[in-house]
Amino acid sequence: MRTIAELEAIARERMEPAHYDYYAGGSGDEATLRANEEEFRRRVLVPRVLRGVGKRDLAVEIAGSPLSMPVLVCPTAFHRLAHSDGELATAQATAEAGTVFVCSMASTTAVEDVAKVADVLWFQLYVQSDREFTESVISRAENAGARALVVTADSAVRGRREREHRHAFHDLPPGLAAENMRDSTGRVRDIEMPAGLTWDDLIWLRNTTKMPVLLKGVVHPEDARRAVEAGIDGIFVSNHGGRQLDGAISSLAALPAIVSVVDGQVPLILDGGVRSGADVVKALALGADAVGVGRPVLWGLAAAGQEGVAEVLERLREETDTALGLCGARTPGELTADLVR
Ligand code: FNR
Repeated sequence: MRTIAELEAIARERMEPAHYDYYAGGSGDEATLRANEEEFRRRVLVPRVLRGVGKRDLAVEIAGSPLSMPVLVCPTAFHRLAHSDGELATAQATAEAGTVFVCSMASTTAVEDVAKVADVLWFQLYVQSDREFTESVISRAENAGARALVVTADSAVRGRREREHRHAFHDLPPGLAAENMRDSTGRVRDIEMPAGLTWDDLIWLRNTTKMPVLLKGVVHPEDARRAVEAGIDGIFVSNHGGRQLDGAISSLAALPAIVSVVDGQVPLILDGGVRSGADVVKALALGADAVGVGRPVLWGLAAAGQEGVAEVLERLREETDTALGLCGARTPGELTADLVR
């Protein structure tokens, strides 16, 4: 089984430089992009011994969805830039791994087609100023079988991504489109960043669907408190993989204050910089209920299609199981904050 770094190196060789940089890059000087991984290196595990960890179980349940391990696949745009099988390959490998696939609104495969091969499917939304269109996209996802709606909140405006400007990467190649943005006339709309969105809109949003609604892109504890108050069913502690506000706090550094205000009322998913099972265990010990991975899955996809994604997820599963046992825990729930310094 290849390491994630090895898969990234293969992906880099296989991909158009503009597309590789679109995946790998962050905003500004990429300080937040780097900080996401660095914060995991800065923290160390202080394992416990002699705890009888012969029977371990990685399964968790988040917002009513079962996960075979506390790792899910984050929403990322345009999988067909990585591999011609695109989101179908990613969703299928994720289904085989028994975890959640979050389909991006900016998916290059229609959510209805993704749903045919996915197992536990969630759908990520950028709220559009055309509310009727937004509702139609939510209905499409819900009718296709999505089990939760993930509303991205950290993208009021688009982050400034220097690598994209350098390559003048603005459009998908011919033949690829954001398939969830097709309207009733078949035209593909551009995705708007929801600059006008406020907390009041969440009430409307919660009334548009029966699916649980999770909020993605929260790092301020006061926003986590408001999200709980607004009746949100879960929070992604995330800075969008360092692609939005450069200079923002890393996800892992943001986690403890959020854990403390949320106090177990809703599940917390941390994403940004998770690259190993030890990283998963650190995030869980500090209070996350699960983690999400973005780029590692894209590297697996670009390097080897469905097989590559399967490799990444199996590696994370095995490493998480190893780290859990070596920390003296049998389940994710047994990990406690004293295991991290
Ligand atoms: C993303 N991310 C993202 N998030 C979202 O809500 N909707 C989207 O369409 C996308 N698209 C996207 C594209 C690419 C290429 C990347 C790398 C990321 C953010 C994603 O869901 C997640 O927050 C981060 O990727 C997590 O960080 P890591 O695991 O990539 O470090």
